Amino acid sequence: MATLAEHAAETAVDFLPLLGTDHVEFYVGNARQAAYFYRAAFGMKLVAYAGPETGRRDRASYVLQQGKIRFVLTTALRSDTEVSREVAAHVARHGDGVRAIALWVEDAAGAWRETTARGAVSAQEPATVSDEYGSVVISSIRAYGDTIHTFVERRNYSGVFFPGYRALPEDDVARPTGLLHIDHIVGNVGWNAMNEWVDFYSRVMGFSLYQHFDDKDISTEYSALMSKVMANANGYVKFPINEPAVGRKKSQIEEYLEFYDGPGVQHLALATHDILSTVSSLKRQGVPFLTVPHSYYTQLQQRVGRIDEPLEELERLGILVDRDDEGYMLQIFTKPVEDRPTLFFEIIQRKGSRSFGKGNFKALFEAIEREQEARGNL
Ligand code: FE2
Repeated sequence: MATLAEHAAETAVDFLPLLGTDHVEFYVGNARQAAYFYRAAFGMKLVAYAGPETGRRDRASYVLQQGKIRFVLTTALRSDTEVSREVAAHVARHGDGVRAIALWVEDAAGAWRETTARGAVSAQEPATVSDEYGSVVISSIRAYGDTIHTFVERRNYSGVFFPGYRALPEDDVARPTGLLHIDHIVGNVGWNAMNEWVDFYSRVMGFSLYQHFDDKDISTEYSALMSKVMANANGYVKFPINEPAVGRKKSQIEEYLEFYDGPGVQHLALATHDILSTVSSLKRQGVPFLTVPHSYYTQLQQRVGRIDEPLEELERLGILVDRDDEGYMLQIFTKPVEDRPTLFFEIIQRKGSRSFGKGNFKALFEAIEREQEARGNL
């Protein structure tokens, strides 16, 4: 059963006010080539760079932006510094993946103090970095697996991204696709670990339960998972947490945990105002998507009622639709974007609905299982 949680009483003080997601940092094997993929296929613009040419000898980082979405792709250039060893070790163990979900705050030292006082393990104490454009304060705490949350305070900074990064001229490789902002970021954790992390987000970060799904909601003939969606007080930041559940065959979450070698970010949901146009562009530019059978569309109208988008267009693109009391939403999922069956993306357009597409779980998971089966991992 999905239940909308009551939001925290308005009188309660939010001890961790978040202005939104600042950026997501990926550790990758070859940041230059990964950047090309996100620019040419996803339409992100390369806006800033740090590396040997800017005085940083041990690693290179590319900052990509589209709408309010900002990705940082970082790769190690050598293995004789602590940070570059950490980047290389992360890639060796997990493959390309998300290292940091960075959150935009007014007070990064305060965010660190409040969360560590509530039991968060520090990954980096508050530090101020400066250049001619001002200063940024950052701090970090550990989350699931090797993932961290970095708090970024940038009210005294006017540069393109961070001190030490060089702004780049207009990107003519980028082919924008209409992606606007991050809707939610999903973490996969181990067997029976979901509630531990739900408790972490609630106790340490002041989030509350927004929705939850049990294995009856999310199971097919073969595999199952459970999921709880945690949201911060203003609802800008939503983190669903998945754990595997017992099924007849291997859960897709187990496959992830095996290939990522531990918990980590499973997917990022990116929002658009025009999913038909966004997905058409992404497909044309080579982003691989999961497909759904024709039968899904024969029952769709009956399940979701009247919608603005032509059914045949939705079917041609493989877009899923779900409805709740408040409206409907359209969504589609990419295949994993690296060789390991780990990180993928969701493209989502909300038309009133604040749900997570429960009505699509069965069709979606059957599509994922067809891929799992093809990899010999079901
Ligand atoms: Fe999602």
